[in-house]
Amino acid sequence: MKQKTIVIVGASRGIGKALLKLYAKSGYTVIGTYNKNVKAAQLLSKKFDQVTFIHCNLAKLHSVRACAKKISRITPSLDIVINNAGIYTAGGLQQLPIRALHNAFGVNVTGKFLLTQLLLPLLNTAPEAKVVFISSRFGFFGNVEADSLSYTLSNSALIMLSRSLQEEFLHTNIRIGCFIPTVTKTDRFTSAFTREEQMAIQQSKLLAQPIDTARKIKAYTDSLRGVSIGVDARVPNELFHKIRLETV
Ligand SMILES: NC(=O)c1ccc[n+]([C@@H]2O[C@H](COP(=O)([O-])OP(=O)(O)OC[C@H]3O[C@@H](n4cnc5c(N)ncnc54)[C@H](OP(=O)(O)O)[C@@H]3O)[C@@H](O)[C@H]2O)c1
Repeated sequence: MKQKTIVIVGASRGIGKALLKLYAKSGYTVIGTYNKNVKAAQLLSKKFDQVTFIHCNLAKLHSVRACAKKISRITPSLDIVINNAGIYTAGGLQQLPIRALHNAFGVNVTGKFLLTQLLLPLLNTAPEAKVVFISSRFGFFGNVEADSLSYTLSNSALIMLSRSLQEEFLHTNIRIGCFIPTVTKTDRFTSAFTREEQMAIQQSKLLAQPIDTARKIKAYTDSLRGVSIGVDARVPNELFHKIRLETV
């Protein structure tokens, strides 16, 4: 069987790094992207023969274009793209500088839009291709926190981007997915939560290790059919229904 090729965006740390190892060990040719963490990228490409790393700063359109160009020089065809990279910047309307909001949209939404658009010719040549966006429960309607404005808005847009693409590509060879992980112990976990919150989450059953989340994303991607949003069951249902919906 032909070896499959996957692009993992943001594969130098956290969930993306765990995904990269999982797919490399499963026999895939893996193209990972990094932004700042060049050391991790070098170490990982040394460790796995079938792994290549490319620089990509999703906030900069020229960087996304350069990355897509390099990918198309490496492979004529892509089976899977996992748009995993994401940033969290704290702050509400009273604290958040507009450039931080722009940056969050650049990394979490528009950079992924452009990269996916530029990779379409490679996805079109695969018999069955898959594009998965990793979003957050913060992007859901009922799950809003006062100081997470940029993350909430951009992840909500990312979920709607995934849903729109699911409709656009419904009758094509490209399946579109969106996965919402549970809280996972990565750098993002330590930067987004206070020490007290981290302790409380650690004591609960909500916290996953990056490899657990990577396994769930892979299982979701493997079985991706039709229109679906994958939600890690560890995220309690009540979180999605914090507000009362009224029919008028
Ligand atoms: N951890 C959680 O609890 C959790 C929960 C729900 C959803 N998620 C989502 O899951 C995804 C992965 O989260 P994580 O916790 O693994 O994050 P993480 O540990 O903070 O890693 C972030 C990754 O994104 C890359 N990245 C950061 N800024 C970038 C930029 N400007 N352009 C391109 N890549 C950039 C990083 O690259 P460098 O290291 O090279 O800079 C790194 O590989 C994110 O989309 C996040 O929103 C996470």
